[in-house]
Amino acid sequence: MRADFDALAAFGATPKGGVSRPSLGEAHLAARAWFLRRSQEAGLETRVDAAGNHSAILRSGRSAAAPTLLLGSHLDSVPDGGRYDGALGVVAALHVLLAVQKAGADLSVALEAIDFTDEEGTLVGLLGSEAVAGTLTAESLRAPRGGREALLAGLELAGLHEERLAEARREPASLAGYLELHIEQGPRLEQEGAQIGVVTGIVGARSFSLVFRGAARHAGTTPMGARRDAGLGAAAFAVAANAVVARDFPGCVATVGDLRLEPGAFNVVPGSARVALELRSPDAVQLDELESALLGEAGLAAEQHALGLEAIPVGSWEPTALDPGVRAAIRRAAAALGLSTLELVSGAGHDAQALAGVTRSGMIFVPSVAGISHDAGEHTRWEDCVHGADALLGAALALALGE
Ligand code: HGY
Ligand code: MN
Ligand code: MN
Repeated sequence: MRADFDALAAFGATPKGGVSRPSLGEAHLAARAWFLRRSQEAGLETRVDAAGNHSAILRSGRSAAAPTLLLGSHLDSVPDGGRYDGALGVVAALHVLLAVQKAGADLSVALEAIDFTDEEGTLVGLLGSEAVAGTLTAESLRAPRGGREALLAGLELAGLHEERLAEARREPASLAGYLELHIEQGPRLEQEGAQIGVVTGIVGARSFSLVFRGAARHAGTTPMGARRDAGLGAAAFAVAANAVVARDFPGCVATVGDLRLEPGAFNVVPGSARVALELRSPDAVQLDELESALLGEAGLAAEQHALGLEAIPVGSWEPTALDPGVRAAIRRAAAALGLSTLELVSGAGHDAQALAGVTRSGMIFVPSVAGISHDAGEHTRWEDCVHGADALLGAALALALGE
């Protein structure tokens, strides 16, 4: 498993030890091709569905119509991300299949290790898993947070067709469940000294592209009081948004992850500013309240700086509870391995969020050193990675054997 993990980390490797594999780009496609080759060389059946989800499959010897237990995660990464986010879950899933294959165990379910397309939302967000769940909407493809051009270019490069993505949908009855091993990406497990995280639920998230419109003017001749500076309005919004969340929304987060000024020159007062805003809450009602509070702050900032404002929704994922039965199977698997556990909510979004709507789903976390993720400094001790893979195997067998 270590050799496979290190082989994967070579695709899109960055100088500081991370990976940069934005979805459906060259590095991502190369990593996916490696996964298929590696699975085929191990004698596993492989498939790529209409949404580009890549799978290795170990059929049940008992019945060709046996339901499938999906074990997955994603091989795409954020720009300049870490080598564990997603990749650990796919490699561990592959090694669960290899362990069962090697043992010659004959299960009443098929096991499928699946790498979902565009989990990270460089293009859309949970694209492949929502296609499998049948919840991908035309709206999310019309105004994707990575922009239409990037989406179409990625689909083109991967040989995928927008109008066929929905064909990846699986009948819920054909699924026996979904399990995902993932790094925690936060500090809780390390702080509490727990080895395995049993995830109780996943936060909801919303993304907006905010465009503040002012007037591009000469930076030397335009008096300070005569400006409609879009950059100033965007910056004022970012500061105000941070203050509102800290003051009024404990347990929530909001992030301005990108801010583009146009035309973007030293000697031009910015005429427009495009802000990438993301907000998250574990609670659906609070998510709505947070959204209106932040859009209200954007309106205020626009007013105070005499700017126009356009708020374009470019992504929405609801808070999701994970299956109690699957959580129990994970707890039992960890206990059988003598591993300590902690129940926690995921502050990160995951493919399990999409699958939970159509089949019983659960997630296993392993500790992130110093809670660092979405950065080359992302690290999980290899011993913890193996603990996670062992727990994934144990939980998968428990679900497969109907325990
Ligand atoms: O953004 C997230 O929460 C996840 O890493 N996709
Ligand atoms: Mn991830
Ligand atoms: Mn991520």
